[in-house]
Amino acid sequence: MKNDAVVAIVGVTGAVGAEFIATLDRRKFPVGRLKALASARSAGKTVGFRGQTITVEALDERSFDGVDIALFSAGGGTSRTYAPIAVRAGAVVIDNSSAFRMDPDVPLVIPEINAQRIREHKGIIAVPNCSAITALVPLWPIHRQNRIKRVILSTYQAASGGGAAAMDELLQSTRASLNGETYPPKVLPHPYAFNLFSHNTAIDPETGYNDEETKVIRETRKIFEDDRIAVGVTCVRVPVLRAHSEAITFECERPITEDEVRAILAEAPGVRIVDDRARNTFPMPIDASGQDDVLVGRIRRDLSDPSGHSIAMFVAADQLLKGAALNAVQIAELLPERAMA
Ligand SMILES: NC(=O)c1ccc[n+]([C@@H]2O[C@H](COP(=O)([O-])OP(=O)(O)OC[C@H]3O[C@@H](n4cnc5c(N)ncnc54)[C@H](OP(=O)(O)O)[C@@H]3O)[C@@H](O)[C@H]2O)c1
Repeated sequence: MKNDAVVAIVGVTGAVGAEFIATLDRRKFPVGRLKALASARSAGKTVGFRGQTITVEALDERSFDGVDIALFSAGGGTSRTYAPIAVRAGAVVIDNSSAFRMDPDVPLVIPEINAQRIREHKGIIAVPNCSAITALVPLWPIHRQNRIKRVILSTYQAASGGGAAAMDELLQSTRASLNGETYPPKVLPHPYAFNLFSHNTAIDPETGYNDEETKVIRETRKIFEDDRIAVGVTCVRVPVLRAHSEAITFECERPITEDEVRAILAEAPGVRIVDDRARNTFPMPIDASGQDDVLVGRIRRDLSDPSGHSIAMFVAADQLLKGAALNAVQIAELLPERAMA
């Protein structure tokens, strides 16, 4: 791979696609040429990158000729069809969809946790689910020092997790509501303005868990390489425009204090502690938006566990960045092919 790689963004017109462009630029990723790909609907539109105007092309079977790195963010179906084509054309695929995450041949990578898995790739590397990334970045350094046996988390997920159309629906329905107008939901299954609802993914009739919740459970075990970790999740969509938040309670194998957790997290990569009890100031999505770090606060003993093994905390992270584009670009920065260039 040349040092100045040919980089393709699949889904360049989407919410994550826009962050791919901004993140490559901001992190000074050496891009020789950028290929902007989306559906046929967007062919001919333009995007800007480092002062250049790039015309969006419709994704097709020849799109990856000459491409070194393909950043996919266009849904699972598109990834399932086109990622293998990109790999056959010689590209390394970094995929934001759920299509390959649980494939044993595909590394599922959060660089702060398991960067070493990148070099095992066979063409595709998967970016984990954004709710999983948000929880696991701060949980991992704790787990390494005092194994976490059980985690219970509840998400407060922003519109941006549903893409550009969901963000638009939140804005439009809020405007309509303030004007006293009715707004029939178009993208999401329920009224969004001044409301919240269980995550809009399919529900497993056996378990009652929705897809988002099941992903967090399975992906935690794969990333931590710990099949025994017990994970309970409730995923909820809230009327926040950008950045997911989560209430997390975890139980360790040995007793743990909130001071120990604070000390571990103070040194943890990708984490920023926001925990000001005096001013009642803790992680908020508005502060996490546009930030690389997972904000962590409300670090306190879980009083429901008198054994002293459990801690509760609250986190917020920009899932378009750490939950998607940033995590993918961090992986691209660590590709062994680039080191050999
Ligand atoms: N949003 C998040 O926070 C987040 C986080 C992690 C992972 N992801 C994953 O990233 C993907 C995209 O998410 P998003 O939020 O950016 O969605 P989005 O705003 O709806 O954008 C979707 C993008 O995919 C393109 N696309 C759709 N169908 C296509 C097709 N058949 N061929 C080529 N391109 C196609 C769209 O192009 P057009 O504009 O031409 O339709 C658009 O560029 C999804 O797989 C999602 O699960 C999202």
